[in-house]
Amino acid sequence: MPNDKTYDIDQIVASTNGRKIHYFDSVDSTNTWLLKHGQCGDICISDTQTSGRGRRGNAWVSPSGNIHFSICGCFEKNLAHWSLLGLVIGVAIAEALSDIGLTNHGVKWPNDIFWEQKKMGGILLETIDQSGKVVIGIGININLPDNANKMIGQPSTSLEEAMGHKETSRNQLVVYLINRLQKKLNEFKCLNFEQFIKSWQTWDILQGKHINFNHQGLKVSGEVMGIDKMGRLEILTDSGEHRFYSSADIKINKNRGHG
Ligand code: BTN
Repeated sequence: MPNDKTYDIDQIVASTNGRKIHYFDSVDSTNTWLLKHGQCGDICISDTQTSGRGRRGNAWVSPSGNIHFSICGCFEKNLAHWSLLGLVIGVAIAEALSDIGLTNHGVKWPNDIFWEQKKMGGILLETIDQSGKVVIGIGININLPDNANKMIGQPSTSLEEAMGHKETSRNQLVVYLINRLQKKLNEFKCLNFEQFIKSWQTWDILQGKHINFNHQGLKVSGEVMGIDKMGRLEILTDSGEHRFYSSADIKINKNRGHG
């Protein structure tokens, strides 16, 4: 596959059911743009972002050549399994990375794309009101500058490193991503939890690992059992209690358990 440095938007449109794609060489943030201007189903792609945003208020390092794109989804206001959307998107991204030939990658609950213990991508879901419109932003590192780990503040990697510097096509990966995402978004309204949990378990990198994190000022330490129907992480704590968490910044404890 070619190591393309520029997007061929016509090819992306032709290979993805002709969805409306708004392309920019540079924009503040593809999420911000869609939140302001997007209609249901619209996609925004930008080569670089000047104010890329990550979860928990972090900045997202967005150099030219990486993938920064967002898609606008619309759902019923009170969908019971709404809290599973980010996990479903994580599975779609992992599948698209397999389509391009990557192995040894997975999803770190709730929304990080990992390759061999290092972060390669992330997902940011945002809404502006209760209308059911949600903007799903996806960032994937294709190549990272040498000082990236210092800028990002955690071990990070890129698709080029993960693919052993084999030529990869960013354009083709975006096509795979859009097709996988559109299928999942179309099916999300009638999500079959039993099927979803099987696909989640295929990609979940935390299951069975010993982890720790801070929750409301207290240290939590224990083994990951999986997720529940609401997408909460189930932990068997070191003191033997089963606890459920809707959000947490997890660190894998490399010296314990099966990790
Ligand atoms: C995270 O892991 O913290 C989430 C990162 C999400 C980054 C993407 S890049 C495209 C979209 N636009 C943004 O400003 N953020 C998301």
